[in-house]
Amino acid sequence: MAIHRLGLDLGSTHVQLAEVEFANKNDMATGTGILTGFAQVTIPRGSLEGGEVVDVGAVATAIRNAVSIVSPKTKDVIIGVGAESVVVREIELPEMPMAQLRSSLPFQVQDVLPMSIDESVLDFYPTGTLEGASASTLRGILVAAPKALVSQNLLAVDAAGLKTVGVDINAFALIRAQLAGDLSSRVVAFVDIGAQMTNIVICQAGQPRLVRTLSSGGHKATDAVATALRIDAQQAEQIKFNIGMEPPSDRELVPAHDAIAASARSLVDAVRNTFVYYSSNNHGEAIERVVITGGGAHLRGLGQHLATASRLPVTFGNSFARVTIGSKLGADAVRGFEANVPVAVGLTFGEAA
Ligand SMILES: Nc1ncnc2c1ncn2[C@@H]1O[C@H](COP(=O)(O)OP(=O)(O)OP(=O)(O)O)[C@@H](O)[C@H]1O
Ligand SMILES: [Mg+2]
Repeated sequence: MAIHRLGLDLGSTHVQLAEVEFANKNDMATGTGILTGFAQVTIPRGSLEGGEVVDVGAVATAIRNAVSIVSPKTKDVIIGVGAESVVVREIELPEMPMAQLRSSLPFQVQDVLPMSIDESVLDFYPTGTLEGASASTLRGILVAAPKALVSQNLLAVDAAGLKTVGVDINAFALIRAQLAGDLSSRVVAFVDIGAQMTNIVICQAGQPRLVRTLSSGGHKATDAVATALRIDAQQAEQIKFNIGMEPPSDRELVPAHDAIAASARSLVDAVRNTFVYYSSNNHGEAIERVVITGGGAHLRGLGQHLATASRLPVTFGNSFARVTIGSKLGADAVRGFEANVPVAVGLTFGEAA
């Protein structure tokens, strides 16, 4: 019997809900499914900050609205977690059975974590084995999330009438939705630019090697425009959309342009520094491509600027690389969202499911 799964991405500007239908469990594990529903509902500014729900009622209302648009066949949802406080780091551990490894994880990693073991949820995703002279070592990604981070998010999901069956890392969902074809065999940097956060995942042959969350995104440019022109955030947002990083013909908008360009440049610098860090920690291994997603990636001129700064080809990502668009949903319902919903789609399948 077909399995339906919901993926819910709780962003600081909107919630995005995706429903995917899988023919069976195997298809769910490999992400071979049909996108049967999608909705994006805006939330009031301030009701979700830095990945954490602040106003449970407001976010629950938005989720409920998204549910009524999708009218899903299931209430089972997987939510994502992503914040600067979530530690996602590559580590090497002595090879041992997974069950033993998971139970010994707290002792193995307590020295490398900046937070108390008792207050965090730990996990380890193996990505490869390294053969040493005497013993082999398991390489993988350690995840440590503060327990308190998702508690409000779970409340909001519950209040909206959905049942959380899994909590996954946004960064993993981001790549899972997009890893297809050529991207699965190369060294690719996936960069998702949101309003408050930017997630960077560098993958080598389909395996995540470096994950970084920057607490910066499109809102910084909006705020800078609002300050420069003494206007409200809504007006500033419109101006930002119109001019982006390109010099405006209207001289009155020059201060807005300067504010946007400065903010975008500092974000691009931070992204590029992450690329340099990756290469210097991996014997100079070069990143071959950059794939950008998220609302912030649409800032005019940003992709070009990132390409120049990193000297790498930059393209928009495809959130639907692994799924087909259901005929009932129709291509029109998701047109324009190709580069905007990788997390919601990627949450519907994979390990956490
Ligand atoms: N066409 C555009 N030009 C410039 N910026 C844009 C455009 N479209 C969206 N944005 C910006 O993208 C940001 C929202 O991105 P996204 O939808 O990925 O955010 P989010 O997932 O809600 O936020 P976060 O993940 O940071 O919590 C906003 O800052 C918005 O101004
Ligand atoms: Mg987001």
